[in-house]
Amino acid sequence: MEHRTLIVAANGRVASRVAARLAAAGDPPDVLVRDAAKAQRVLVDEHGRPAYRDLFVGELANDETMRRAMSRAAVGFLAVGSSPAQADLERQVIDAARQASLGHLVKLSAALAAHDAVSSVLRVHAEIEDYLAESQIPHTLISPTSFMDLVLVGAAFIREKGRWTGTAPDGVNALIDSEDVVDAVVQVLRDPAQRGGTHLLTGPDALSWPDVARAISAVTGRTIVYDAVSTRERRHQLENAGLPAWRIDLLLGIDELNRHSVYRTPNDSVRQLTGHPPRGIEDFLRRHFAVLAPPEVPPSR
Ligand SMILES: NC(=O)c1ccc[n+]([C@@H]2O[C@H](COP(=O)([O-])OP(=O)(O)OC[C@H]3O[C@@H](n4cnc5c(N)ncnc54)[C@H](OP(=O)(O)O)[C@@H]3O)[C@@H](O)[C@H]2O)c1
Repeated sequence: MEHRTLIVAANGRVASRVAARLAAAGDPPDVLVRDAAKAQRVLVDEHGRPAYRDLFVGELANDETMRRAMSRAAVGFLAVGSSPAQADLERQVIDAARQASLGHLVKLSAALAAHDAVSSVLRVHAEIEDYLAESQIPHTLISPTSFMDLVLVGAAFIREKGRWTGTAPDGVNALIDSEDVVDAVVQVLRDPAQRGGTHLLTGPDALSWPDVARAISAVTGRTIVYDAVSTRERRHQLENAGLPAWRIDLLLGIDELNRHSVYRTPNDSVRQLTGHPPRGIEDFLRRHFAVLAPPEVPPSR
């Protein structure tokens, strides 16, 4: 059997960075994408060279292309974006992995996925995790808390108005920098000793959204106000903004994770797995300073 790594849906935010890290380490993965033109933009290094070995173009389906890609791989990585189709798509990939006798599948899930969770994201992942367990495919779950990157969803409003709206003024979340998720996935893909079971990954600090607003204020040197509104009012705002119902449920569900402090407890998993401490919120905000601060504001030191 070849020792190739296959990244499925490799154009994704997490997956493309995993591919880049593996390529930079001299071990480029095979990649499967649905959009070859996007791969030419996101799956290249700074010199424009491909960050992959072989490129497969196909859907997230149990089809010939998927099975051919898997038949060459010893391990696969699966990270599918949220949508109403997510569970079905991941089930198709799991079916293909079983038919192709894939040796190991690493799946990006979410911490504390459960059928009765307060967030739709966790309920969807619980469904997929069950399916994966029933498939008997050897697998590893990468299960992070909410990403710090969620701040960027409201970045334009924060930059323009100095305000940020949500429904969770109370409650905390040990938010994780998605860079740490990428580092953890790379470790698991490169080191078979790290595979199996669930890696529940957290950031270093349990933060409320107003804590994050204060951190943005400190980094940008401008007061950012967290406007707390009721869930009903927020739903109304998001409907008026034209968001589809599933995305509104997803965003409100993420606030529910904070309101219930579901991710209240930071752990040491990132350090144990990657050898470095988890990145903190200030580090994250400094790296994304340009999208959060008005153009004239220099970064605070
Ligand atoms: N954000 C958080 O706070 C958080 C926390 C914990 C866990 N997670 C989990 O992390 C995962 C998201 O990771 P990410 O941000 O890297 O994902 P992403 O960039 O939004 O999407 C990953 C890939 O999914 C593909 N995809 C989506 N719908 C598809 C479809 N209908 N057919 C084929 N491909 C499709 C996309 O393809 P294209 O590139 O072609 O569009 C993309 O390449 C989710 O499962 C989420 O639950 C997120």
